[in-house]
Amino acid sequence: MTTLITHIRQLVNVREQQELLRGRALAHLPVIDDAFILVEDGIIAEYGPMYELAVKVPQLPKVVIEAGGQFILPAWCDSHTHLVFASTREEEFIDKIRGMSYAEIAAKGGGILNSANKLNAASEDELFNSAWARLEEISKLGTGAVEIKSGYGLTVEGELKMLRVIKKLKEKSSLSIKATFLGAHTYPLAYKENHQGYINSIINDMLPVIANEKLADYIDVFCETGFFSPSEMEIICKAGMSYGLKPKLHINQLNSIGGIESAIELNAVSVDHLETMTDADVTALAASPVIGTLLPTAAFFLRMQYQPARQLIDSGCAIALATDYNPGSSPSGNMNFITALSCIQMKMLPEEAVNAATLNGAYAMELEKETGSISVGKKANLIFTRPIPSLAYLPYSFGTNLIDKVMISGVFI
Ligand code: NIG
Ligand code: FE
Repeated sequence: MTTLITHIRQLVNVREQQELLRGRALAHLPVIDDAFILVEDGIIAEYGPMYELAVKVPQLPKVVIEAGGQFILPAWCDSHTHLVFASTREEEFIDKIRGMSYAEIAAKGGGILNSANKLNAASEDELFNSAWARLEEISKLGTGAVEIKSGYGLTVEGELKMLRVIKKLKEKSSLSIKATFLGAHTYPLAYKENHQGYINSIINDMLPVIANEKLADYIDVFCETGFFSPSEMEIICKAGMSYGLKPKLHINQLNSIGGIESAIELNAVSVDHLETMTDADVTALAASPVIGTLLPTAAFFLRMQYQPARQLIDSGCAIALATDYNPGSSPSGNMNFITALSCIQMKMLPEEAVNAATLNGAYAMELEKETGSISVGKKANLIFTRPIPSLAYLPYSFGTNLIDKVMISGVFI
């Protein structure tokens, strides 16, 4: 099946060559005005300005779509979510309005443990169906690739159940999906006084099965005061790495406790959250190949300080943006709002936000060869906007749905 799309007002993030974008390069977003794009069997086959159409596509295919006034962007790459969960947590939302902190809610058995109780009681089918609905929701919002974590099981059965659900989502969905094992999300109550016992269970009971059934691509740890220390994180990551799982880590959300340094030593693919960064953390991250993934809706929802995006970018870091979609700290998987919030509250330029939410997001899932930009040979994962006056209008008109339609692997969803 071949589809030609013509008269695109602006084709955004077109790249013949690419690399992970860091520092100033994030502000460079290559575009073509009045463009066409040719999609063949789900793959981008050709693109260019309209005046080159006759030369580049001498024979027009049967299906030609005129995109007058519309912008086309690569679909969003959401590199950090927890979108498999059993139920939402509005009661904690009210607790927070009444003044309790995220850490206080966690300490009284709410938070992640609350989600774990509900997840262990849910069937694999129930979890699959609700996660499938969330995938459909985010794909309509323009997301074409997504990473999904376990971490609400915290028992051998629960973690494996979550990862098997993610594996089934991978098999059935047209979105590109990566799976991350987050057994080390928090200590379950049974191991409250026996941390080593839970770490042993992760290493001896969970990881061998996960590796055997190929249930995960990455390993994650919530490195935080009251959760896992940097040295515990190292032990868990090294065990995961022995099975080929690279680290993608929850770091510096509430406190800076040495996680950045350890993550760099572990050659993590990304360090995610980063609300609380010291100057030394920023300098170390900038000098490393590790991607810093900012999750601004977690800061928004928990009323915390935002990630220091300007300082990170101006220091030369490679930055990605993701939703953290989960029931506790970010009950939204809307990447459009992420880009708006990044511009409004973190002072990222619209170009920086789009690059961080597409190409760098793809790098943060090691999917940069198949998605994240308009490049020949990549999947035709495309966002068609409504007619808009400029690219900056997207984050500027936050809260308005400006997506007309979304194409995933060459098919409109
Ligand atoms: O990334 N901070 C750790 N984990 C999740 C939240 C989990 C939850 O509250 O359910 C996060 O924000
Ligand atoms: Fe998270």
